Amino acid sequence: MNDEQRQEIIRRLQQGEELSPEWARIIFPPEKREYELVYHGKEREEDIIANTLAVPLQKVRTFGKNGDGWHNKLIFGDNLQVMKSLLELKRAGDLSNTDGTQGVRLVYIDPPFATKQEFTGQSEQKAYADKVEGARFIEWLRRRIVLCRDLMAEDSSIIVHLDDRKVHEIKVIMDELLGPGNFRNAVIWRRTNSHNKLNRQFGPIHDTLLFYARGAFTFTPGKRPFMRGYIEGRFTNKDKRGIYQTNYLTGPGVRTGDSGKPWRDFNPSLSGRHWAIPRQIRELCKKTLDGLTTQQQLDVLEKEGLLHIPNKEGGQPMYRQYLTDGVPYQDLWCYQSNSQGILYGTKECIDEDVRYLEDAPESIGYPTQKPEGLIARCISSLSKDGDLVLDAFAGSGTVPAVAEKLGRRWIAIDCGKLAIYTIQKRMLILRAKIGNYGTPLKPKPFCLYNAGLYDFSKLKELPWDAWRFFALQLFQCRDEAHKIGGIQLDGYLKGTSVLVFNHQKQPGVRIDEETVQSMHEALGSKVGSRMFIIAPALVFDFQQDYLTLDGVRYYALRIPYSIIHELHQREFAALKQPADEMAVNDTVDAVGFDFIRSPELEYVAMANKRKGEMLSEGVIRIKTFKSEAVVRDSTKKANRETLSMVMLDYDFDTESDVFDLDAVFYAEAIQKAEWEVRFPLESLGKQLMAVFVDIYGNEAREVITAGKFGLGDTKAAVKPAKKSREKTRK
Ligand SMILES: C[S@@+](CC[C@H](N)C(=O)[O-])C[C@H]1O[C@@H](n2cnc3c(N)ncnc32)[C@H](O)[C@@H]1O
Repeated sequence: MNDEQRQEIIRRLQQGEELSPEWARIIFPPEKREYELVYHGKEREEDIIANTLAVPLQKVRTFGKNGDGWHNKLIFGDNLQVMKSLLELKRAGDLSNTDGTQGVRLVYIDPPFATKQEFTGQSEQKAYADKVEGARFIEWLRRRIVLCRDLMAEDSSIIVHLDDRKVHEIKVIMDELLGPGNFRNAVIWRRTNSHNKLNRQFGPIHDTLLFYARGAFTFTPGKRPFMRGYIEGRFTNKDKRGIYQTNYLTGPGVRTGDSGKPWRDFNPSLSGRHWAIPRQIRELCKKTLDGLTTQQQLDVLEKEGLLHIPNKEGGQPMYRQYLTDGVPYQDLWCYQSNSQGILYGTKECIDEDVRYLEDAPESIGYPTQKPEGLIARCISSLSKDGDLVLDAFAGSGTVPAVAEKLGRRWIAIDCGKLAIYTIQKRMLILRAKIGNYGTPLKPKPFCLYNAGLYDFSKLKELPWDAWRFFALQLFQCRDEAHKIGGIQLDGYLKGTSVLVFNHQKQPGVRIDEETVQSMHEALGSKVGSRMFIIAPALVFDFQQDYLTLDGVRYYALRIPYSIIHELHQREFAALKQPADEMAVNDTVDAVGFDFIRSPELEYVAMANKRKGEMLSEGVIRIKTFKSEAVVRDSTKKANRETLSMVMLDYDFDTESDVFDLDAVFYAEAIQKAEWEVRFPLESLGKQLMAVFVDIYGNEAREVITAGKFGLGDTKAAVKPAKKSREKTRK
């Protein structure tokens, strides 16, 4: 920085002016990186980690027999906060691959593209909105990629699936976060059929998969068949080994050693080349070539019948290139419909294994669902059996489904209730083959967790160690037991001692001023100027945030309690649930945690005979739906305004108690239908379960018998029709 610049900076700061980003380059010249993406609101990586609240994972349920060791994880929560908690698990050695290495072997993420907000509004506003929204989106995703990277094992890969709108910016971000040297490919995947109605652009039909890897990462790409024309036109020779073509035995460049010397009257140096014996024929040769000169090796290969010596004098010797089992995956994954017959030895179309979904049988109707074949290519190429695969934007659960089929461990995170129920169902009715067909496949036991939205009643049932851990995590305390004045304390919060009150050991005991006083007598000023006591809200017998005794402040950290707001100095935002199908792919940014509060619900169930139709339809008319949450946007909402969606299991089985998602109705559509959920009665079993989800992710669950829809509990009146989707095996 020169003197003039220094003076200018001082002048601007003294006058209270803001410094534009260009000055940042001068004050903080880039050191390690040659380039970086500059935008408003870009946080330091260290701050991202430090400012992210870890939200403990609360187990809701285990599917399958609960054994020891690793359990695959399905987690409902904001991935940023969840990944911060997973980082703690990694540090504690609890995030392992089967071979014992720590960390995730493969991260695949398919984030929403933030399109809805960006492409609305008047054209003038749009340009501005694009920029603001664009920067916000990039930072939103960058924060998550930072966490993904920190969760990765030493030898691992990451794939970020994006479309054209943001891939270029994110490529630069990935270079910053993972190092440009770790960039492997930008794989182009065809995601849809050709477009006919074009808006003055070529048809946008592909997505891009940014692939980065570090360390000695696993790389075992599969193969695809050759083009038939190539094989039939070139592999025209045949011997006992099979069909072959002749190919060059030399490579470009002159060499002075053996490989530059003549053999069989052919001098490769004269044409600027040298002998380069390909691996394929080395491997086919039954005799050892070790320790031989190039020319001796060529002699052996010739004797073995692996070379082709031209009849013409001085002609270039060639080798026999035999047909192999296919071409390894390239970076263009482009399904071509109607291309049957074009590939050698198969009736498949080009890249049929990664064909886009359209109305393929594996489609379960989740918006943005990706095909299993696409994910199978990623997982099989970049991980081994027993490796841990993470999808932090799990959606319909394609990654856990494929990971399960390929014998990998998995963690799937999503902040949408619809996604969680879709994945739960999908895992329970898996079929063994990629594309979801073949024999039924029982998944390994997996656990469903809540993170950030907790069931307080279950929390109280936790054994003491788990409760203590949960409490410390919740308030971001360091778990470090220590003693002061003979009192056993549990950890630190920003350097201040923390006590997790053992309400289980002392049932019925309340923390009142007297309790704090006797604690204070033991601790005195040795504890410093403040101390935190964590306990369930109801255990405290005083209302204040803290009590002051001889200048020492004893803070009450109530669970749940909004002091966490003060501690983290930020507003909390809920896990916003979508109210229409378009919004399923919105970006979600939740901060903090809350406790499940069942919404207030009043409804009537009935049957409705439609004019001119034989069968009646089932109707659930929602009369009241109200919910609340201790979050930023918890302004009073009108009746039914907080409804996000209603999900139905048409044939709920009380015994297994698994909600088996059959249909989803978004609030927007329900509102249009005069707040009625209408469904075909022929789908109904003996009873249905309806899950009413609010926009904060809370649920009200109702089991409604067929009788309520006028069918009689035996359902004699209506024969159950086949379900559109397979029923969960229980
Ligand atoms: C494009 S979809 C993923 C589709 C998925 N690959 C599949 O095959 O079904 C993106 C998902 O990210 C979820 N999502 C958005 N923001 C999130 C967040 N902050 N934390 C966790 N999930 C989030 C959405 O709920 C949505 O299900």
